[in-house]
Amino acid sequence: MEALSMSPPHMSSSPAILSQDDLKKIAAYKAVEFVESGMVLGLGTGSTAKHAVDRIGELLRQGKLNNIVGIPTSIETRERAISLGIPLSDLDNHPTLDLAIDGADEVDPYLNLIKGRGGSLLREKMVEGACKKFVVIVDESKLVKYLGGSGLALPVEVVPFCWKFTANKLQKLFESSGCVAKLRNDRKGQPFVTDNGNYIVDLYVKKDIGDLQVASDAILRITGVIEHGMFLDMATTVIIAGELGITIKNK
Ligand code: 5RP
Repeated sequence: MEALSMSPPHMSSSPAILSQDDLKKIAAYKAVEFVESGMVLGLGTGSTAKHAVDRIGELLRQGKLNNIVGIPTSIETRERAISLGIPLSDLDNHPTLDLAIDGADEVDPYLNLIKGRGGSLLREKMVEGACKKFVVIVDESKLVKYLGGSGLALPVEVVPFCWKFTANKLQKLFESSGCVAKLRNDRKGQPFVTDNGNYIVDLYVKKDIGDLQVASDAILRITGVIEHGMFLDMATTVIIAGELGITIKNK
């Protein structure tokens, strides 16, 4: 794994304190430097990925990029890309993508990720799993020693049918890590419904869940589970924007 540090160009002249959103934008713009004309691109979801989608739209408009095809990872991203004039397609028509750019909720030292706080983990995993290169963009607050270490949840997409039954099985699976499973609600207090018509059960753990591949396999063996938000060994590059500059880690 190779790491490279550098300062974003504008930081050398300005000592201003950067907001978290500034850092997200810096990481996103750096990632878009990997985009070339003619590429089929996975378009991520969330407040960090939004900056990348906006930048791609801007470069297309300026004629600095051409013949891009975007594969969106959510309805929200699809709508934003359409509003920016980014030509879109899907995995049925483009089963192999050149590059995807997306944010993450957590990044561990081995570049494993937790994604899905925005609820788009299933489409994200399908699209990003089909990419030759998957560039993850984060601000430094997303770095953790182990997945689950930020206190945020590991999201699991489940079928709505008897979701409590599935949630109980998930909680039991990680009992020794002090796991609590909670159904995610939307702003109105109703179950959050994903773009695929499913629910999300968030798993909160108090400590490391151990071997991640074993945990992943065990979650996916539970009938009623559709997918989980651990993205193991998928990121090829992680771009981290921090107060002191940008760090790029490659697998
Ligand atoms: C959505 C995701 C997002 O990429 C992740 O939640 C990070 O979001 P943000 O960039 O808003 O912090 O996985 O399902």
